[in-house]
Amino acid sequence: MDILTDTEAVFKAYYLSYPRAEMNDLKWAHTRRVATDAKRIAEGEGLTERLARLGLLAAWLHDTGRFEQFRRFATFSDRVSVNHALMSCAEVLRLGWLDALPADDRNLVLRAIECHNMKEIPPGLPEDEQLAVHLVRDADKLDICTLLDLNLKREGYLESHPEIYWGLAFAAPPSEAVTGAILAGREVDYADIRSVADFVLIQVGWCVGGLHYATSRRLAAERGTVGTRERFLLKLVPESADIIRRCCDLARSRAKEAGHGA
Ligand SMILES: [Fe+2]
Repeated sequence: MDILTDTEAVFKAYYLSYPRAEMNDLKWAHTRRVATDAKRIAEGEGLTERLARLGLLAAWLHDTGRFEQFRRFATFSDRVSVNHALMSCAEVLRLGWLDALPADDRNLVLRAIECHNMKEIPPGLPEDEQLAVHLVRDADKLDICTLLDLNLKREGYLESHPEIYWGLAFAAPPSEAVTGAILAGREVDYADIRSVADFVLIQVGWCVGGLHYATSRRLAAERGTVGTRERFLLKLVPESADIIRRCCDLARSRAKEAGHGA
């Protein structure tokens, strides 16, 4: 079996080589969904065969280092352990998984893995690398949305699981810095996150400008990403209804530009 032709099977064998842990199972499930969405986006955008193939490979491998991170540090927090994207690159290289690829292809896959968790992608990347980086980042974001959707829809679940929302103030209004960034179409700065409302609005911001591909924005809209967050936030902080609606309306209008209502 070869990672280039039997990607899922080889990656699954790698994941199963680690001790059985719920956290590892979650990452395996996440990886499968990210790969599925990366494929959908590549098809929707009509990416070239090379970019679709290498981008899908990068989607499968983007979190390879999570298993080693959890084994060594018992956490997925990069802040208190290691940058898991760099650990993914190191593992992929150690395993020789990309050795049979031409150098350009290998570098493109590594670049997409390396940049998947950066706040912003570095300037000056070659265009094919940019497209692959955006593919993995969009698919990763879509799955983060899916996971939070499940928690938001379960009545009372989020409030009783502060680890999900970093222990932020629960029923506090959104920060002006966060809503201002969303309305200006800028990426929300995580340093401005003060409340659960801010945390939930991060992904409304993704629907405005954080998802690169129109297909990704369409998928987010089909999944009701904005509506789920809006309903949750209007209940949580009704005194901020006006600003929440403005942010969500903008996200919905972006989704319409991508060919779908939210
Ligand atoms: Fe990741």
